[in-house]
Amino acid sequence: RTVSPTGVGYDGPEDGRDPRAQAGDTLTTPNGVRVADTDHSLKAGPRGPVLLEDFHLREKIMHFDHERIPERVVHARGAGAHGVFTAYGTASKVTRAAVLAEKGLQTPVFVRFSTVLGSRGSADTVRDTRGFATKFYTKEGTWDLVGNNMPIFFIQDAIKFPDIIHAGKPHPDHEIPQAQSAHDTFWDFVTLHTEATHHTIWNMSDRGIPRSYRTMEGFGVHTFRLVNAERETVLVKFHWKPKLGVHSLTWEEAQIAGGVDPDFHRRDLYESIEAGAFPEWELGIQVFPDTPEETFEGIDLLDPTKIVPEELAPVQPIGRLVLNANPTNFFAETEQVAFHTGHLVPGIEGTNDPLLQGRNFSYLDTQLSRLGGPNFTQIPINRPHAPVNDNTRDGFHQHAVHQGQAPYTPNSVDGGSPFPADWSEGGYVHVPRVVSGQVARTAPASFDDHYSQPALFYKSLTTIEQQHVVDAYTFELGKCFEQPIKERALTVLARIHADLCSQVAAGLGLPVPKKIKAEKVRGESPALRQIKPTPFPIDGRII
Ligand code: HEM
Repeated sequence: RTVSPTGVGYDGPEDGRDPRAQAGDTLTTPNGVRVADTDHSLKAGPRGPVLLEDFHLREKIMHFDHERIPERVVHARGAGAHGVFTAYGTASKVTRAAVLAEKGLQTPVFVRFSTVLGSRGSADTVRDTRGFATKFYTKEGTWDLVGNNMPIFFIQDAIKFPDIIHAGKPHPDHEIPQAQSAHDTFWDFVTLHTEATHHTIWNMSDRGIPRSYRTMEGFGVHTFRLVNAERETVLVKFHWKPKLGVHSLTWEEAQIAGGVDPDFHRRDLYESIEAGAFPEWELGIQVFPDTPEETFEGIDLLDPTKIVPEELAPVQPIGRLVLNANPTNFFAETEQVAFHTGHLVPGIEGTNDPLLQGRNFSYLDTQLSRLGGPNFTQIPINRPHAPVNDNTRDGFHQHAVHQGQAPYTPNSVDGGSPFPADWSEGGYVHVPRVVSGQVARTAPASFDDHYSQPALFYKSLTTIEQQHVVDAYTFELGKCFEQPIKERALTVLARIHADLCSQVAAGLGLPVPKKIKAEKVRGESPALRQIKPTPFPIDGRII
């Protein structure tokens, strides 16, 4: 097969066969020379030395020697699937992006789920955040929604990303352990950089060990800006809601499942699609007025460590995602797919969230080395489903044979290609915004509130879910060697909830820290105090 279900694939000779896809009738060398024997090297006599002139031997082994490309620096372990996204049309008031706005429009997608910290061959069942990245092959260009199964992130500024990842990855001396928690550097980082408290408690909850990719929520995390046909803007947060509901493994189940089948989630996704039980999600948005403050009910929308509770802004459904086909080549599709937060289409813009802005640099940059040069949009899985006419030329792994003499626009030599006159003709034109401020390494005061939302999260859990959180902190911190790190972690927990702190302290055999005087924290939203958290039970059974 040369063309995948989404139509991504080689559009080669008319007989539909891709000469590069091993579709010939007989075995050949990479240069198409028919091979009569691929089991014996060319030798001087049956016991003689192997001859340098054996071009088949050298080509065969040379290619094998270079089969591996670098795994992703994070999210190396993943599984993907093809599918289709259907817009309800309900978003047309707030965005002109056809993929979201045009009622009934079906857009092909490729989704990759992943863990964050393990290597490519690590277990699926570890306690970790899960990636939920979606590539929409829209008719207006490619849009990537590169999200996670948790609505917040550890850090507020991308400049700390190398640090949190260095702290979370296996220790550089002995490469132990593979999971994100249960070691000193991780706990050292998240207790010294306390904006990580919210994401950490989500990780220590049942959300950190999903039952299945099919039973995970997904979140765009950052606030994005949508632009409608009248050039009016709103701020939004994206949510994926799984049709099967949210289900997790208990810690004990995860241990057993991981031992018996480290491919537990990968297999579940593959087998359910093969069986025709297609995983489904609804895409929803929380919508906020685009005010100069970029806050909602006192919550800073540019702070990626904060959610906006659904009690304050409901999630409004705008479309449906169905995953209906497995990849036929893991490397070509799941491994080579390149997601990027900067892949946006007209009607969808980013915001000044400093984490998002750093990501906009990082993805292209890492893919340049991971995928071996600047031409990775030509790899079948990354090819847009919109016409491309980009004036780029040459570079490593160039597969296009570009025509013409004048790769610049406009030109008067061979006509070039006209620009769309403006945004009304489909051009991506950023909505003008005024920017001012003093150049400094600084953050807004609202970024100082690190505890009100973790406290809200803990209070929103059912009793058994709270117990799981206590057990997880106790187990993971119990694996730390450094006493001061454990003690510091307890002072963080004391700021979230006294019971949580005292139970974990008891489990660790350490004293509860002295009562911490409640300080007034800059940036705390008074609206949060009004919320009566609604317990959202997570079913922990293995189905
Ligand atoms: C990969 C999500 C923050 C750098 C990924 C992937 C996901 C993801 C889902 C896997 C993509 C795939 O399946 O191929 C997120 C989310 C973040 C976040 C939700 C915060 C809200 C960051 C930051 C940086 C970063 C702050 C860097 C400054 C990377 C890199 C990769 C990656 C380098 C590997 C990409 C590749 O090799 O193709 N991220 N990430 N991420 N992320 Fe992030």
